[in-house]
Amino acid sequence: MTGPELAEAALLLAAARRPVVFTGAGMSAESGVPTFRDAQTGLWQRYDPQELATPAAFRADPALVWGWYETRRRGVRRALPNPGHRAVAAIAARLPETVVITQNVDDLHERGGVPAPVRLHGSLFAPRCSACARPAPLPSDLPPSAGPPEPHGGAEPHGGAESHAPEAHDGPLDPPACADCGAPVRPGVVWFGEALPSAALAAAVEAASGCDLLLTVGTSALVHPAAEIPLVAARLGAPVVQVNPVPTPLDAICAVNLRGPAGEVLPALVRAAWPDDAVG
Ligand code: APR
Repeated sequence: MTGPELAEAALLLAAARRPVVFTGAGMSAESGVPTFRDAQTGLWQRYDPQELATPAAFRADPALVWGWYETRRRGVRRALPNPGHRAVAAIAARLPETVVITQNVDDLHERGGVPAPVRLHGSLFAPRCSACARPAPLPSDLPPSAGPPEPHGGAEPHGGAESHAPEAHDGPLDPPACADCGAPVRPGVVWFGEALPSAALAAAVEAASGCDLLLTVGTSALVHPAAEIPLVAARLGAPVVQVNPVPTPLDAICAVNLRGPAGEVLPALVRAAWPDDAVG
C-alpha cells in the first residue's frame, strides 16, 4: 500500500507518543481465524449467536456451547500471528506508552509480541467456573483438526450455509466440572448480554481519553460498548486512523481511512512512519 493516505497516517504515527491500537476480528482474519460478520465466512453468518454466545444458551445446552468454543480454541491454537500483529508489536516496542486494546478472544497479539493487551471480550484461553468463577485449567488439547467448528456435529443448523472442512471432533463436548464447586466450567469470553470486565473497560476508556492517536483495525464497530472506544478518542481531539478493507460507521470520525487488509497495511504504515525500522 502507498499513496497520500498512507503518508498522512504515517506522519500521525511518527508524531504520536501515546497511541492506542484498537483491534477487532479483522486483525486475525489473515491468520485464518474467521471474523464474525463478513459475508459467507463470518461466524454469525453461519451460526446463531443466540444459540452459542449467550448465558441462556450455555444453561440450555452447555455441551453444545463448550464444544463450539473448544473447537474455536483449537483453531486459534493452530493459527499464527500475521505481519499485522507483528507491526502492532513494533509500534509498541518503538513507543512504550502504546496501549493495545482488543475485542478478540484469540491469543495472537500475545504471540505476535504484545504481552498484555487490554482484553474487552475475554479470552478463549481463560476458562472459569460458571458458578463460583474460579479459574479452570485449560483442557488438554485434542489432536489438531481441520477447520472451524460445526456445533451440531456437521449438520448445518441454519439452512446449509457453506462450511469449511468438518473437524475430527465436531459437535457437543461436556464441559469439565469446577474443582471447587462442581459446576460446569465455561469459556472465559464475554457473551452477548453480559457486562464487559470492568477493569479492562476502565483501562480502555482511560487510554482512549489520554491518547494522541487511535489506530482502529479490523472492526465493524457495531458492538457496544467496545465500539465507543474510538469515539472517546475522537471526542477528546485525538486523530483516528482506520484500517479496514470496507467502510464502517467509524469512517466519518477518522482523519484517515486506509482501505486494505491489516496484514499488508500495518507493516506498510510502520515502514512509512519509521523507514529505518524494517518490519514484515
Ligand atoms: N484486515 C482488516 N480488516 C478486516 C480484514 C483484514 N484482513 N478482514 C475483514 N476485516 C474487517 C471487516 O471488513 C469487518 O469490518 O474486519 C471487520 C470484522 O468485523 P466483525 O466480524 O463484526 O468483528 P468485530 O468488529 O471484531 O466484532 C465485535 O462482536 O461478535 C462479537 O464479541 C464478538 O468481539 C466481537 C464483537
